[in-house]
Amino acid sequence: MKPTGIITSAVLVGVASAALAHSGATGIVKERMDAMSAMGKAVKQVAPMMSGETAYDADTVRHAAETIGMHAGDAMTRLFPDGSAGMPSVAKDAIWNDWESFAGLAEELHRYAEGLALAADNAPASQSDTM
Ligand code: HEM
Repeated sequence: MKPTGIITSAVLVGVASAALAHSGATGIVKERMDAMSAMGKAVKQVAPMMSGETAYDADTVRHAAETIGMHAGDAMTRLFPDGSAGMPSVAKDAIWNDWESFAGLAEELHRYAEGLALAADNAPASQSDTM
């Protein structure tokens, strides 16, 4: 899947759960919700640029990629210590039951963020001024 595809999917799931989960969170759970929300904001800026709803701006895309990248990999997995499930968190036991897969997804996000940063200068065809 292209970086923008996986990121758009992730934000849709994330934003849907944000409204449910955010209230009442403290400590590490609040920290990871804040990190996810920061990525959500970044994606919300970029997604309409990709679909042509807003003007494309490479610096904004690069900045969004940086925000996503800094919350990926170890920066993400360290926010999910053992015993941090349960309300108000919506994190599923599957995370800890299959930690390897979870950590793999967190690491994959790193690569997508890097890809997005590298591709930032390539505006979508609908927004490109090379005509
Ligand atoms: C650009 C990519 C991503 C975006 C925009 C994003 C966005 C979000 C948002 C907005 C939330 C809700 C936070 C809240 O409750 O306030 C969330 C929760 C969550 N996300 Fe992400 N996310 C991304 C990537 C990932 C990845 C790669 C993983 C897994 C490796 C992941 C795992 C989770 C989990 C487990 C929760 C629930 C946390 C909890 O309730 O304790 N997210 N995400």
